Amino acid sequence: MARIDVGAVERNCATLRGRLEGEAELCAVVKADAYGHGAASCAAAALRGGATRLAVATAREAEELRLHFREAPILVMGALTEPELRRVLAVDADLAIWRRGFLELAARLAGEIGAPARVHVKHDSGMGRLGERDADTAVELARDVAADPNLRLAGVWTHFATADDRDDPFLSEQLSAFGPVADRVRELDPSVLVHAANSAAALREPASHFDMVRCGIAVYGLDPFGVDPGEHGLAPAMELCSYVADVKRFESGASAGYGRTWTAPADTWVGVLPIGYGDGVRRALSNNADVLVGGRRYPVVGTISMDNLTIDLGPDRGADQGAEAVLIGEQGSERIPAEELARRLETINYEITCGISSRVPRAPA
Ligand SMILES: Cc1ncc(COP(=O)(O)O)c(C=O)c1O
Repeated sequence: MARIDVGAVERNCATLRGRLEGEAELCAVVKADAYGHGAASCAAAALRGGATRLAVATAREAEELRLHFREAPILVMGALTEPELRRVLAVDADLAIWRRGFLELAARLAGEIGAPARVHVKHDSGMGRLGERDADTAVELARDVAADPNLRLAGVWTHFATADDRDDPFLSEQLSAFGPVADRVRELDPSVLVHAANSAAALREPASHFDMVRCGIAVYGLDPFGVDPGEHGLAPAMELCSYVADVKRFESGASAGYGRTWTAPADTWVGVLPIGYGDGVRRALSNNADVLVGGRRYPVVGTISMDNLTIDLGPDRGADQGAEAVLIGEQGSERIPAEELARRLETINYEITCGISSRVPRAPA
């Protein structure tokens, strides 16, 4: 089970909001089911905590959010096919534009619906992904949006490639590229929303705040720099739990799991937890992670299978059947943050929580 503390999401948003320059708004990024935490409940908590807008990547995510939030501004940041664009317009969400053909399509479809589409023109200032690379062309697109009666120029924006690397100077280069584009678009319409920062930039570089920041990972109390969210006053919202379903005596030399990748070096007790890679506990954590039981760390031993994993409870039988086991979270004075699993897997905390599969029930903490 994944316990989700929506109170933590609310407080994290209030913390982020408190760190923003001037009147900058906080947009909570709740794509990928709020990074695995549950989009609807986290979006509600984020709005309570001071976020004024929500962002997602896909049409389907926008549709699902709109079912719960009739009024909240929703920005769809991703690329859209024509059918997806129709669906985004039907739920009155804002959209991203960086190509003329797409601008014309959006204007035509919005004209058919009879409600102007709110458009955020995206400048690729160095991410090398979505967005118009050429500054003049990006400004030109914004001018055409402003001039089209079926479109409203709602925003101009960009995305940073290296904000999570505190020593990398590329963030400043991207800011230098985007700043003049933002200024020129503001001249077209002073009410346009200028936005660029993700969580890392929001925490690291006040000059990136502009009119709004788009925070995802920090909203969920995870550290965008992959170290310790506590350093930024953030608290993790997800705890991943299971329980000891069985305890067995292992004699020295007995093996656990597929492939016999672990054999007991001495007589011991092994606990079996009914959670595995089918739940998102990655197989690469086999013989390479700890689990908390009774406030103590026990190593994962043997190969993690789809539905089960095994832990070495030691010769003193550290826990009994039924004991709660924590894979991500705290127990007593011990803590296994998502950042620890990310380091073991040589990945980022984002992938850890996004990877907890839909089989795992999400319950309020
Ligand atoms: C365009 C865009 N903006 C903002 C975010 C939020 O980033 P973070 O979760 O690092 O705050 C993302 C997430 O990947 C994104 O793709």
